[in-house]
Amino acid sequence: MQVEGARCWLVGASSGLGAALARALDRAGAEVVVSARREERLSELSAGTRMRPVTVDVTDADSVRTACDGVLAELGGLDLVVYCAGTWQVSDVGEWDQESFEQHVSTNLLGLGRCLDVTLPTLRAQGGGTVVGIASVAAYRGVPGADYYGPTKAAAVNLLEALRASLRADGVRVMSVLPGFVRSEMTDSADFPQPFKITAEDAAARILEGLARDRAVLVFPRRMRALMTGARLVPAGLWPRLTPVLRHPWARRL
Ligand SMILES: NC(=O)c1ccc[n+]([C@@H]2O[C@H](COP(=O)([O-])OP(=O)(O)OC[C@H]3O[C@@H](n4cnc5c(N)ncnc54)[C@H](OP(=O)(O)O)[C@@H]3O)[C@@H](O)[C@H]2O)c1
Repeated sequence: MQVEGARCWLVGASSGLGAALARALDRAGAEVVVSARREERLSELSAGTRMRPVTVDVTDADSVRTACDGVLAELGGLDLVVYCAGTWQVSDVGEWDQESFEQHVSTNLLGLGRCLDVTLPTLRAQGGGTVVGIASVAAYRGVPGADYYGPTKAAAVNLLEALRASLRADGVRVMSVLPGFVRSEMTDSADFPQPFKITAEDAAARILEGLARDRAVLVFPRRMRALMTGARLVPAGLWPRLTPVLRHPWARRL
């Protein structure tokens, strides 16, 4: 797609990958409305740029609908919807935390659905557009500590793949993005190995390139893609015995 001049709604833009992607899209000439809950962060991000802030809480359907109305009023249409909102907390299922599980599902998966609910009619009516969903390589295998997070990303990857086929006739493209570790508020405080970690700016540049090339799926960085591609081949019976390796100190050196 042509990013320059594209009317874009970026949901989950107040920090980390979303903020870096918003800056990259703005620099590339897109008209960007940035959304998240933290209004002051959105104001800081958009100050001195062409970006416009609209607050949203993706766990609240009314908030998403109101925000979308605001976005359409600002932009007069939509060419690109990027769903980057996400939450992650280390899980310890020794003490199952149903509230945390529901928070992950509501933010990472149902929030995507709420945004699709309000934006797809516009994209369809216009005869096309692009949807980008930021998932994660955590979608590929169940990993202890990501017991609540991983399933939401696996479901998002499945949903995005189905939509890519379902929306083809409407001219709506769907790109799934599965990053490995990215520097952000989400990961920087976590105390476990995060191999092949890249900056949010690096991740944003890869996504922009993926958009320019109309890629269907992006998995990066390359070494994490190779690692997870291999991990997918490990038999289910062997996987539980291998997962402690992911937390071994040597993994910090990768
Ligand atoms: N960092 C990584 O290593 C990594 C790896 C793979 C995938 N990802 C994915 O990349 C995306 C961005 O994560 P990040 O690493 O950049 O983390 P981050 O800095 O914590 O960003 C998360 C974003 O989601 C927004 N958000 C969370 N809950 C929301 C809600 N209820 N309503 C609206 N916005 C909400 C946050 O804004 P507010 O708090 O202001 O609402 C923030 O803008 C997430 O989907 C994450 O799962 C990250």
